[in-house]
Amino acid sequence: MRTQVGIIGGGPAGLLLSHLLHLEGIESVVLESRSRAYGEGRVRAGLLEQNTVDLLTEAGVGERLVREGLPHDGVQFTFDGRYHRIDMREHTGRRVTIYGQQEVVKDLIAARLAAGGAIVFEAEAREIGGLDTERPYVRYVEGGVEKTLECDYIAGCDGFHGVARGAIPASVLQTFDRIFPFAWLGMLIAAEPPSEELIYSHHPEGFALFSMRAPKVTRAYLQVEPDDDVKNWPAERIWEALRKRLGQHEGLTVHEGELMQVGITPMRSFVTEPMKHGRMFLAGDAAHIVPPTGAKGMNLAIADISVLARAFVAHYKRRDSSQFETYGPECLRRIWRAEHFSWWMTTMLHPLMDASPFDKKRQIAELDTVMNSRAGRTFLAENYAGLPLAPWR
Ligand code: DHB
Repeated sequence: MRTQVGIIGGGPAGLLLSHLLHLEGIESVVLESRSRAYGEGRVRAGLLEQNTVDLLTEAGVGERLVREGLPHDGVQFTFDGRYHRIDMREHTGRRVTIYGQQEVVKDLIAARLAAGGAIVFEAEAREIGGLDTERPYVRYVEGGVEKTLECDYIAGCDGFHGVARGAIPASVLQTFDRIFPFAWLGMLIAAEPPSEELIYSHHPEGFALFSMRAPKVTRAYLQVEPDDDVKNWPAERIWEALRKRLGQHEGLTVHEGELMQVGITPMRSFVTEPMKHGRMFLAGDAAHIVPPTGAKGMNLAIADISVLARAFVAHYKRRDSSQFETYGPECLRRIWRAEHFSWWMTTMLHPLMDASPFDKKRQIAELDTVMNSRAGRTFLAENYAGLPLAPWR
């Protein structure tokens, strides 16, 4: 098989790239190691920046998102018995929207297939080669048969555990890594959330986050030990921790319901440079990971794709390949700012169980400073709602 852009990975990044290229008449093939049902069913991130909503809408795949997504003008915090709300719209003029990653994936798959796009499911990329030639290729296995996809360029959108990053020689690959000493226990609850907006709660026993996927579906997270096990968290312990960590605030109640999709997410920060090697570009989790506090992961992946799509359009439509060289540096500036923001939100909101009495007081003071300063609230809101993103075309 031969195409212009070979895309490894059919998550939001790979699918969006394929869709944007198609809008500009550029051919691509997406190789996805899992089944369609897997990508459409797995509950993952769910908070879209205004940039992401605007891009998906402009690209013609935002119709259901605008209809079913839950727009939020504010975000709430509890700590030390106190409650604060930051009005994002007042501070930034922007808002965020709750819409599950798997819904974005469903909309993009539907759009690609309706346009006759090529997505090969259950196609496992094994080897990437020819990156220094005009004929790079991906060898993959589909239904037990080894096949080759030849292309002009390769986009590695295959996530943190994918093969693409490994095709960059160790002698040129730099990695920056940090692992946090806690994890998140995530769950879906068939009940309405405590508030229509997200609540980030700092509590001496651990952080908790109350989000949602629909008006009567809560998505909640609890800070747990890094090596914790779902088996250690029977329903009664979950309810007690959620109630305790939210604290007692007027009008905020944890509603119980069926517990679904309980799982543990590790917390790490990770960046690799460069994002281009020969004729391959990395995008999304293949190149960088943020801890989830602040929900930057999927938004960053989509921002990478908007820069990469613009570079491909300049190359194929105007024979201008200069943006291939600026792709990585342009993305990395935003990535590092999101790395800082995600690290800051994480360290500010998660108590360390072995923190000194001084550090416990200092952490509360930091939250107090941010929430009670217009500059502090604006800084948080600007980053949370998303830094400005240049148009992809
Ligand atoms: C969600 C996850 C996050 O990490 C976050 O900061 C906000 C929302 C969510 O899954 O809804």
